Amino acid sequence: MKSLDEKRLQKSRILIIGDLMLDKHLWGEVERISPEAPVPVVDVIRETMVPGGASNVANNVVGLGARAVVCGVIGRDSDGALLTSLLQEKGIETEGLVEDASRPTTVKTRVIAHNQHVVRIDKEKRSPLSGEVTTALWERIRAVRDHISGVIIEDYGKGVVTPGLIKDIISLFQGVPIAVDPKEAHYLMYKGATVMTPNHHEAGRMYGKRIETREDLLTVGDGIMNDLSLQALIITLGKDGMSLFLRNGEVFLIPTVAREEFDVTGAGDTVIAVLSTMLAAGFDFGQASAISNVAAGIVVEQPGVVPIGLGQLKERLKDERIIIEKVRG
Ligand SMILES: Nc1ncnc2c1ncn2[C@@H]1O[C@H](COP(=O)(O)OP(=O)(O)OP(=O)(O)O)[C@@H](O)[C@H]1O
Ligand SMILES: [Mg+2]
Repeated sequence: MKSLDEKRLQKSRILIIGDLMLDKHLWGEVERISPEAPVPVVDVIRETMVPGGASNVANNVVGLGARAVVCGVIGRDSDGALLTSLLQEKGIETEGLVEDASRPTTVKTRVIAHNQHVVRIDKEKRSPLSGEVTTALWERIRAVRDHISGVIIEDYGKGVVTPGLIKDIISLFQGVPIAVDPKEAHYLMYKGATVMTPNHHEAGRMYGKRIETREDLLTVGDGIMNDLSLQALIITLGKDGMSLFLRNGEVFLIPTVAREEFDVTGAGDTVIAVLSTMLAAGFDFGQASAISNVAAGIVVEQPGVVPIGLGQLKERLKDERIIIEKVRG
């Protein structure tokens, strides 16, 4: 296998298009019940804010030492300005962001009292973008397209990724690996993308068959490969790792070397970020998948949403033997 050296990774410039979010946590304590209503009063001690959604994917890409450009929509509000500056602090290129005055920046705020998640407050508008904003976004995508070595479509169904935009992206970036974290309702729109990374629930729902056995997995994987003419398909299997389908009919299972499980949030983001960065750096699908599986394993061992770091990943790849089981082909 090629080595995971910094120079090779620094040459990758990954474009991430999709739904951006700001993840806020309010950490506090409860000592009394409100006099206004029978609810607890949380005294906030600490507040943390990190880029979420497609911006967490970008965060994982720069964690590997590669370059990341984000294209998506924020509101014309203080949260949008905050998200932009958080991204810039991490060295993520933000000229692809479009301000939309008609919607708020998507923010998910979790209130945690005494380490108990009390409530989550979502601020978002999920309707599709207006024609005007879609046009502005498309112009930004075209403006940053030079020297892009990988594209990620991060589709959470919040309105940024529309069927028309998917089609335009796929034709604009012919020859560049395009990886998709899919929204089920857009299933057939991804035809012509390079690789897709649904989890097994999403894959089952997209193809209309629940995955319960290995046979189901093969049926669904083959079906999706056929329907979308992908070059490769990764169906992630949570604690069981991932499966990889290739165009020549080969199928592999890559198990996790599950150590401790702490927090699985963000594991899917790590998979697609690492996969794309490695494909852009010249690794093949088998190698890129196996590396992304190891990276996701590291991320689930840590509390909260943490991006992968190149140092950690290299360390783990050194002392872990990668197991890839060929199940067909
Ligand atoms: N319990 C676990 N132990 C070890 N590795 C795990 C565990 N859960 C997930 N992973 C790793 O993370 C990858 C992605 O996990 P999963 O299949 O849960 O994706 P997902 O549901 O898309 O995640 P997300 O909620 O972040 O979108 C797996 O392929 C595996 O490498
Ligand atoms: Mg996912």
